[in-house]
Amino acid sequence: MVSSERKNFIEIPATSSTAARNTASFAFEGFVNPQIFRTNCSDAARTSSSVTGGSKLNRVLIFLHMPTPRRAHYPCLKYNDSAAREVPCEAGSLISFCGQETRYMFDDLKGKTAVVFGVANKRSIAWAIAQGLHAAGANLAITYQNERMEQEAKDLILSLPGAEAFMCDVSNDAEIAGLFEKLKQRYGKLHAIVHSVAFAPAEELKGDFVNTTREGFRVAHDISVYSLIAVCRAAAPLMEDGGSVITMTYYGAEKVVPHYNVMGVAKAALECTVRYLAQDLGRKKIRVNAISAGPIKTLAARGISGLGDMLKSHAERAPLQRNVEVAEVGSTGVFLASDASSGITGETIYVDCGYNIMGF
Ligand SMILES: NC(=O)c1ccc[n+]([C@@H]2O[C@H](COP(=O)([O-])OP(=O)(O)OC[C@H]3O[C@@H](n4cnc5c(N)ncnc54)[C@H](O)[C@@H]3O)[C@@H](O)[C@H]2O)c1
Repeated sequence: MVSSERKNFIEIPATSSTAARNTASFAFEGFVNPQIFRTNCSDAARTSSSVTGGSKLNRVLIFLHMPTPRRAHYPCLKYNDSAAREVPCEAGSLISFCGQETRYMFDDLKGKTAVVFGVANKRSIAWAIAQGLHAAGANLAITYQNERMEQEAKDLILSLPGAEAFMCDVSNDAEIAGLFEKLKQRYGKLHAIVHSVAFAPAEELKGDFVNTTREGFRVAHDISVYSLIAVCRAAAPLMEDGGSVITMTYYGAEKVVPHYNVMGVAKAALECTVRYLAQDLGRKKIRVNAISAGPIKTLAARGISGLGDMLKSHAERAPLQRNVEVAEVGSTGVFLASDASSGITGETIYVDCGYNIMGF
């Protein structure tokens, strides 16, 4: 616990128990007019010179205040209602709460380098996993798809101290080769790969599956499935000490989910690809697993018509009676990247509040 004895920080207490719910307060070094900034704890907050009165920030204390139900969603949280962490910080940097939360679960990725594919914005599953990996001590190389995504993705990526941003369109073999050449020069060895990438043309994710086009089928499988094989082939020579590859799938791979259409077929192929890759790469001590996440409102998910119904049905029927939080997918990614999961390969691990076990 903190640090009232730390004279160079101003501690900002929550004003009341109501105000403390789902909020975080920041104490800025050298900040003279204490304020409380509220934000959802799965979110992030940006410090700015307007908040700091223009003074230079070197460090910031984050006080997390979480009501009991909220904490129940984050079993990895070990501390009490009010706790603080000291993190390095400069004016304008983004402070992540998910990362702070997962820090308490694993701390064993220090000295390891992970490559995360698929950060589009702060709602991306790739971003939640990246935050968890960062909190667990990993060096991070994070990729985004193209110039159109560059600004938003880079702002996020560079807000994680030490993380580096790289552009890579996984439908392009030359870009994959170029990326891994850069990663080899920059990091030498790699230990974990997170493949959180999928795409199908929007018109394939509405209407009848029987109308799937040849081109839509090809594109969905190329970007969402083949790319995992291509990335593993390029990464394996750099994973000299073995390691872990993680990809993202969904229940629509095995049961019919209206409108998921060709993406369901692609996810089935992806899960099968995970098993074949696990067999091939096992001899190099590289594990390959998929996380099957329940529905989460992200950019990709918004492309599926009927997402609202999907979320509602999951929350009603899942044993835990709610939808999964992206931070829970993030912490499972950290588990799969770490040696805590050293005996697991070729698996599809469900992080869906139990929805998949229900028969009715
Ligand atoms: N959101 C959900 O409900 C959900 C549930 C289960 C699984 N998933 C899977 O999680 C993964 C991540 O999706 P998300 O929900 O975080 O959405 P997202 O839109 O944030 O992420 C998808 C990413 O794929 C990237 N991408 C698409 N085409 C690419 C290409 N050619 N080259 C490089 N990158 C490319 C996008 O730029 C984006 O960063 C996907 O595989 C998705 O199918 C999502």
